[in-house]
Amino acid sequence: MKKTAILLILSLAFIQCKNNNLTKELIVHKEVGFIADSAMVVSAREEASKIGVEIMKQGGNAFDASIATSLALAVAYPYAGNIGGGGFMVYRKNDGAIGSIDYREKAPLAATKDMYLDKEGNVIPDKSTLGAMAVGVPGAISGLFDIHEKFGSLPFEKLIQPAIDLANKGVVVTQKQEKVNNKYRPLFEKANGRTILLDKAWKAGDTIKYPALAATLTRIRDHGRDEFYKGKTAAMLVDYVQNLGGIITKEDLEKYQAKWRKPITFTYDGNKIISMSPPSSGGICIAQILKSIEPFNIEQYQHNSTKYIQLITEASRRAYADRSHFLGDPDFVNIPVDSLIASDYLAKRMLDFNWNKATLSSDITHGNLTFSESDETTHLSIVDQFGNAVSITTTINGAYGSKVYIEEAGFFLNNEMDDFSSKPGEPNMFGLIGAEANAIVPQKRMLSSMTPTIVEKNGKLKMVLGSPGGSTIITSVMLNILNVLEYDMTMQESVSKPRFHHQWMPDNIKFEPAFDTLVFPSLKKLGYQIDQSNSPVIGKVDAILILPNGKLEGGADPRGDDKAAGF
Ligand code: GLY
Repeated sequence: MKKTAILLILSLAFIQCKNNNLTKELIVHKEVGFIADSAMVVSAREEASKIGVEIMKQGGNAFDASIATSLALAVAYPYAGNIGGGGFMVYRKNDGAIGSIDYREKAPLAATKDMYLDKEGNVIPDKSTLGAMAVGVPGAISGLFDIHEKFGSLPFEKLIQPAIDLANKGVVVTQKQEKVNNKYRPLFEKANGRTILLDKAWKAGDTIKYPALAATLTRIRDHGRDEFYKGKTAAMLVDYVQNLGGIITKEDLEKYQAKWRKPITFTYDGNKIISMSPPSSGGICIAQILKSIEPFNIEQYQHNSTKYIQLITEASRRAYADRSHFLGDPDFVNIPVDSLIASDYLAKRMLDFNWNKATLSSDITHGNLTFSESDETTHLSIVDQFGNAVSITTTINGAYGSKVYIEEAGFFLNNEMDDFSSKPGEPNMFGLIGAEANAIVPQKRMLSSMTPTIVEKNGKLKMVLGSPGGSTIITSVMLNILNVLEYDMTMQESVSKPRFHHQWMPDNIKFEPAFDTLVFPSLKKLGYQIDQSNSPVIGKVDAILILPNGKLEGGADPRGDDKAAGF
């Protein structure tokens, strides 16, 4: 496949020059992503995207490709790709059937509500993020096998083999990988009490081989799903975690089961949006934000102008406040999903929005807690030659998860336990109790922000997208939906645009450094707090847009090493 190219299409508009009546050319740059005729994968690493494409070339469908790509990311992108974590998939088949699967991690059986608190009831620093106590029971392998059982068309062995080959052959370190690896190296020894494979000064251009991971994947190929949950790999995982003081048991692994769930669906401006339901907050939050702004006809405001930012910020503020109070694992808490995304409820929520003055988050119910999800997750978008679409977001939570790396088995374990509320029940300044819905309970899934999403227009597939970025995932996906639907951007132009984010608490708008600062004085005058210091990157969106001629345009986020590939 030809190397993905970012094409600059120069469209010419002609304007009359008043003075000399000469025609001058106004050159408008439009950034267009990689174009494919019928099948495409966009993911965080070129190696993984190419492996998914190769599976489709062999006649596999988008589900097959998603399994192969996910496993390849576990090798090529240890930062977030995984078999030691979990994720969500949303799909739309070529006959319009939709669905989703939840393979989110679960709290171990021995988990307790206060496990991250000291005797005084204070959160113990790092306990839920670094080391063996931070690990949730992984769901990735269960999810991939369930996807295969329901929709796979090629044998599983064929889908896992490219990842095994890649692990044996090795993966070339990119400049970005060198940078993050160096940044997190000091924590590897802290979490493991020993040095690990990645705990070296790997340089861009080096090739890292992963023989232990290749052996684990080979065992999974030969013995199936049970290898991870009941076999040698399970024993290695439990021994390693328990030796480091963790609480995951064999029973935890044996009991793990992914779950098919009904996705969240809603319409926005004549488009049907299909996204992930709880235990992800993504679908409900994105529905709340988009449906809150829908009556305002946002396209009348210039993209990234003061009014545009203001409207989205106020809708986000209210949606994230609801997220904190209402959302958690639906197997443990009742969530009023239909009421939360009803147009009349959202219209009422926006009644106190005032164009002349920022709302204070402290004047918005519920809770007074900040979100704790980390930024390091990964997304893959796939459309196959048959018209099926798959949107997967998967994570080990923080960069390299808990940093716990089972050297013998060759993979990192998640620190997803940090996505629970370590200290729920804390009253806010109004005495309201927040985040109880996301309290730790054995076997419960922790709340997520992952938002794998598919957009349909007039009964046809239009867009597949998603992002990493913890709590900023939701806004990153939402902004890209608006970029394309309301501002007619190409997919590549859309994912490249600088982004902003507001999540109720803390009460500030985060802006990427590349964001045009011209709007800041007017926002400040209205009472908005600006934070451009704390978020070098907001999301990393990988997306596919179906063009009017039926071809596919990839949007691979330039913030990472992300790549689109296809045919
Ligand atoms: N760990 C990030 C998320 O699930 O939202």
